[in-house]
Amino acid sequence: MSNLKARMIVDKAFRIAEVDKRIYGSFVEHLGRAVYGGIYEPGHPAADALGFRRDVMELVRELRVPIIRYPGGNFVSGYNWEDGVGPVAERPRRLELAWRTVESNEIGTNEFVRWAKEAGSDVMMAVNLGTRGIDDARNLIEYCNHPGGTYWSDLRRKHGVAEPHRIKTWCLGNEMDGPWQIGHKTAHEYGRLALETAKAMRQVDPGIELVSCGSSSTGMPTFPQWEADTLDHTYEAADFVSLHQYYGNRDNDTANFLAQSLDMDHFIHTVVSVCDYIKAKKRSKKTMLLSFDEWNVWYHSNGADSRLEPWTEAPPQLEDVYTFEDALLVGSMLLTFLRHADRVKMACLAQLVNVIAPIMTENGGRVWKQTIYYPYLHTSLYGRGVSLKPVVTSTKHDTKDFTDVPDLDSAVVFNEEEETLTIFAVNRSLNDELPLDCDVRSFEGYRLEQHIVLTHDDMKAVNTAEREEVAPKECRSSRLDNGILETRLPKASWNVIRLTKAEGK
Ligand code: AHR
Repeated sequence: MSNLKARMIVDKAFRIAEVDKRIYGSFVEHLGRAVYGGIYEPGHPAADALGFRRDVMELVRELRVPIIRYPGGNFVSGYNWEDGVGPVAERPRRLELAWRTVESNEIGTNEFVRWAKEAGSDVMMAVNLGTRGIDDARNLIEYCNHPGGTYWSDLRRKHGVAEPHRIKTWCLGNEMDGPWQIGHKTAHEYGRLALETAKAMRQVDPGIELVSCGSSSTGMPTFPQWEADTLDHTYEAADFVSLHQYYGNRDNDTANFLAQSLDMDHFIHTVVSVCDYIKAKKRSKKTMLLSFDEWNVWYHSNGADSRLEPWTEAPPQLEDVYTFEDALLVGSMLLTFLRHADRVKMACLAQLVNVIAPIMTENGGRVWKQTIYYPYLHTSLYGRGVSLKPVVTSTKHDTKDFTDVPDLDSAVVFNEEEETLTIFAVNRSLNDELPLDCDVRSFEGYRLEQHIVLTHDDMKAVNTAEREEVAPKECRSSRLDNGILETRLPKASWNVIRLTKAEGK
């Protein structure tokens, strides 16, 4: 008999905000086998005429990824975008300093934008504010977005792309607060450069939206002063401030690991507070939005990466093999975004293929879904609509770094158009099932459609090319009677409970 208990009152009148589908974005960097050997592998049996893998494309499409950040990441801070356009045979091979590899430049802006379009995704393009600056950013946006009749737009047309790419969302550099970044800057140096770059880019295309670099993690010594100092410059020019965060279970303390989404919640609250302080200070009418454009679990591959030979092409870098427990934390991180749907309007799971990714490939071989694929898939499919604010009570526990960790982690999304209500829930308890009662009386005439559960006895279970060990199943332990949903969430589980309006009700 479990001592745990959770209750939830869900009312359609308690709305947080419409979920921006772009919180289900992802990221493809020129890093490891993300591009070469990931999305692109000419000669692979599943490659299309351009060399892109159809088997990978199928999974990307299944995930319904609305926006993909490109081309970095740390890579962008040393990237000359001109190297990646024009005849492939003439493109230079370069030393890639961020990840110490050789970049062939076989894939560049035009090829990637075309691939993303086929995947059903928009591109979030990052400009290099490490080794470069205003001039290259304004040229790149002219190349991408100007229709024609000028040097850079005509060059694009000469490169076989008649129509402009019309890329709307642009990142003003990447992790410029990080000492590892090529061209790392102080907050004031970055703030000035970002502002002037934003001005020039907007002169070329006033329709764009811009992301100002926030902190690389809550652990940065400059967090959150970095946000205050940089936004002092960029507040009116930018639409978003970025947040990045990766977690790991280095001491093998799973209860503590699963509680780390509380740190993410705190991160978001803090950045919102700083943004609102700058808003007040500037007497601005604008509310800054948040782009959580790098997030995931990342630590499994650290050791292997340190043993790789430098200066090779597309080495297997950052190839984390994700466990079942990683899927639970990834689920909780997604729920955190849903609960902050009023301010977090974009987020990018870093990354998409092979590099800390939900999708893995073998060179010349198979493709498979990692454990983290599933919470990402479920929220992307069923987490579109209005994020509701349920009244939740739950038993709690303490972990090494966190007190009062609710056993239940949850978020609720109401899709008014489709008349569906989805309750997402993680049972963080490693030992006990969690009985959960949900009062959904404001959803009259709704019936229980499905309860999907992802669980496994072994927290370290992984999926491989050979075997999908961790996969969702249908759960039969829920019932809905007179507006009260009663269910039992298995110990350590990810749950998706879907209610739909019954015909004629
Ligand atoms: O996603 C991997 C790397 O993590 C990115 O290149 C960088 O921005 C971050 O530090």
